[in-house]
Amino acid sequence: MLSTSTLTLFFLALFALFVASSPIVTPAPRDVFSPPVLYPRNGTIWRVGQRHNVTWGLLVKNHIMVDLGTLTFFSTESPLAQGFNILIARHEVTVPKVEPGDDYQILVFGDSGNVGEKFTILA
Ligand SMILES: *[C@@H]1O[C@H](CO)[C@@H](O)[C@H](O)[C@H]1NC(C)=O
Ligand SMILES: *[C@@H]1O[C@H](CO)[C@@H](O)[C@H](O)[C@H]1NC(C)=O
Repeated sequence: MLSTSTLTLFFLALFALFVASSPIVTPAPRDVFSPPVLYPRNGTIWRVGQRHNVTWGLLVKNHIMVDLGTLTFFSTESPLAQGFNILIARHEVTVPKVEPGDDYQILVFGDSGNVGEKFTILA
Protein backbone atom coordinates (compact mmCIF):
# COMPACT_ATOMS: atom_id res chain seq x y z
CA MET A 1 0.00 0.00 0.00
CA LEU A 2 1.40 3.38 -1.02
CA SER A 3 1.29 6.26 1.41
CA THR A 4 -0.14 9.59 0.29
CA SER A 5 3.28 11.18 0.25
CA THR A 6 4.70 8.41 -1.90
CA LEU A 7 1.84 8.90 -4.33
CA THR A 8 2.42 12.63 -4.34
CA LEU A 9 6.10 12.04 -5.06
CA PHE A 10 5.19 9.66 -7.84
CA PHE A 11 2.96 12.21 -9.55
CA LEU A 12 5.49 14.97 -9.04
CA ALA A 13 8.12 12.80 -10.70
CA LEU A 14 5.73 12.02 -13.54
CA PHE A 15 4.99 15.69 -13.97
CA ALA A 16 8.68 16.55 -13.96
CA LEU A 17 9.27 13.94 -16.61
CA PHE A 18 6.45 15.37 -18.70
CA VAL A 19 7.80 18.93 -18.39
CA ALA A 20 11.31 17.77 -19.21
CA SER A 21 10.19 15.91 -22.31
CA SER A 22 7.94 18.63 -23.72
CA PRO A 23 9.47 20.73 -26.48
CA ILE A 24 11.24 23.88 -25.37
CA VAL A 25 8.72 26.68 -25.55
CA THR A 26 11.06 29.65 -25.20
CA PRO A 27 10.94 31.51 -28.50
CA ALA A 28 14.02 31.25 -30.65
CA PRO A 29 16.20 34.35 -30.39
CA ARG A 30 14.94 36.80 -32.92
CA ASP A 31 16.50 39.95 -34.20
CA VAL A 32 14.29 42.70 -32.97
CA PHE A 33 14.83 46.37 -33.28
CA SER A 34 12.17 48.06 -31.29
CA PRO A 35 13.19 51.64 -30.57
CA PRO A 36 11.68 53.34 -27.49
CA VAL A 37 10.48 56.83 -28.34
CA LEU A 38 12.25 59.50 -26.27
CA TYR A 39 10.83 62.64 -27.85
CA PRO A 40 8.11 63.87 -28.16
CA ARG A 41 6.96 62.82 -24.71
CA ASN A 42 4.29 63.77 -22.23
CA GLY A 43 4.17 67.53 -21.88
CA THR A 44 5.61 68.22 -25.35
CA ILE A 45 3.68 70.72 -27.45
CA TRP A 46 4.11 70.90 -31.21
CA ARG A 47 2.50 73.35 -33.60
CA VAL A 48 1.44 72.58 -37.15
CA GLY A 49 4.22 73.52 -39.56
CA GLN A 50 7.05 73.44 -37.01
CA ARG A 51 10.01 71.15 -37.48
CA HIS A 52 11.04 68.79 -34.72
CA ASN A 53 13.46 65.95 -34.20
CA VAL A 54 11.75 62.79 -33.14
CA THR A 55 14.31 60.82 -31.12
CA TRP A 56 14.43 57.24 -29.94
CA GLY A 57 16.71 54.95 -28.03
CA LEU A 58 18.85 52.36 -29.71
CA LEU A 59 17.63 49.38 -27.79
CA VAL A 60 18.83 46.46 -29.80
CA LYS A 61 18.35 42.82 -29.08
CA ASN A 62 20.81 40.54 -30.83
CA HIS A 63 22.01 42.16 -33.97
CA ILE A 64 20.11 44.45 -36.22
CA MET A 65 18.37 43.24 -39.31
CA VAL A 66 16.56 46.35 -40.34
CA ASP A 67 18.13 49.73 -40.46
CA LEU A 68 15.30 51.56 -42.12
CA GLY A 69 12.59 53.02 -39.97
CA THR A 70 9.09 54.36 -40.33
CA LEU A 71 7.49 57.18 -38.36
CA THR A 72 3.74 57.57 -38.07
CA PHE A 73 1.17 58.88 -35.67
CA PHE A 74 -0.08 55.98 -33.67
CA SER A 75 -3.79 55.22 -34.25
CA THR A 76 -4.28 57.70 -37.11
CA GLU A 77 -1.24 56.25 -38.84
CA SER A 78 -0.61 59.47 -40.72
CA PRO A 79 2.75 58.92 -42.36
CA LEU A 80 5.46 61.26 -41.17
CA ALA A 81 8.58 59.73 -42.62
CA GLN A 82 9.90 56.45 -43.82
CA GLY A 83 13.01 54.87 -45.22
CA PHE A 84 15.37 56.77 -42.92
CA ASN A 85 18.32 55.25 -41.10
CA ILE A 86 16.91 54.13 -37.77
CA LEU A 87 20.39 53.81 -36.29
CA ILE A 88 20.80 57.58 -36.25
CA ALA A 89 18.19 57.64 -33.45
CA ARG A 90 16.63 60.89 -34.63
CA HIS A 91 14.62 62.12 -37.57
CA GLU A 92 13.45 65.61 -38.30
CA VAL A 93 9.80 65.93 -39.26
CA THR A 94 7.49 68.79 -40.13
CA VAL A 95 4.33 68.74 -38.05
CA PRO A 96 1.57 68.08 -40.60
CA LYS A 97 -1.80 69.83 -40.70
CA VAL A 98 -3.70 67.66 -38.28
CA GLU A 99 -6.56 68.34 -35.92
CA PRO A 100 -5.31 69.93 -32.71
CA GLY A 101 -5.26 67.38 -29.93
CA ASP A 102 -3.51 66.29 -26.78
CA ASP A 103 -3.43 62.59 -27.37
CA TYR A 104 -1.04 62.24 -30.27
CA GLN A 105 1.56 59.51 -30.02
CA ILE A 106 4.50 58.75 -32.25
CA LEU A 107 5.08 55.27 -33.51
CA VAL A 108 8.66 54.47 -34.49
CA PHE A 109 8.90 51.26 -36.36
CA GLY A 110 12.00 49.20 -37.00
CA ASP A 111 11.13 45.57 -37.33
CA SER A 112 8.93 46.03 -34.33
CA GLY A 113 7.15 49.15 -33.22
CA ASN A 114 7.34 51.38 -30.21
CA VAL A 115 4.78 53.98 -29.25
CA GLY A 116 5.78 57.15 -27.41
CA GLU A 117 3.95 59.03 -24.70
CA LYS A 118 0.97 61.22 -25.46
CA PHE A 119 1.77 64.78 -26.49
CA THR A 120 -0.04 67.84 -27.77
CA ILE A 121 -0.35 69.34 -31.23
CA LEU A 122 -1.78 72.84 -31.59
CA ALA A 123 -2.88 74.60 -34.76
C1 LIG B 1 0.75 63.29 -19.11
O1 LIG B 1 0.69 64.47 -18.35
C2 LIG B 1 -0.62 64.82 -17.97
C3 LIG B 1 -0.54 66.15 -17.26
O2 LIG B 1 0.20 67.04 -18.04
C4 LIG B 1 -1.20 63.75 -17.08
O3 LIG B 1 -2.51 64.04 -16.75
C5 LIG B 1 -1.17 62.43 -17.82
O4 LIG B 1 -1.59 61.39 -16.97
C6 LIG B 1 0.22 62.12 -18.32
N1 LIG B 1 0.19 60.91 -19.12
C7 LIG B 1 1.17 60.01 -19.11
C8 LIG B 1 1.00 58.87 -20.03
O5 LIG B 1 2.15 60.10 -18.39
C1 LIG C 1 17.60 68.08 -35.53
O1 LIG C 1 18.88 67.57 -35.22
C2 LIG C 1 19.90 67.96 -36.13
C3 LIG C 1 21.18 67.30 -35.69
O2 LIG C 1 21.42 67.50 -34.34
C4 LIG C 1 20.03 69.46 -36.11
O3 LIG C 1 21.00 69.87 -37.06
C5 LIG C 1 18.68 70.09 -36.47
O4 LIG C 1 18.78 71.48 -36.39
C6 LIG C 1 17.62 69.58 -35.54
N1 LIG C 1 16.35 70.10 -35.96
C7 LIG C 1 15.52 70.73 -35.14
C8 LIG C 1 14.22 71.15 -35.72
O5 LIG C 1 15.80 70.93 -33.98
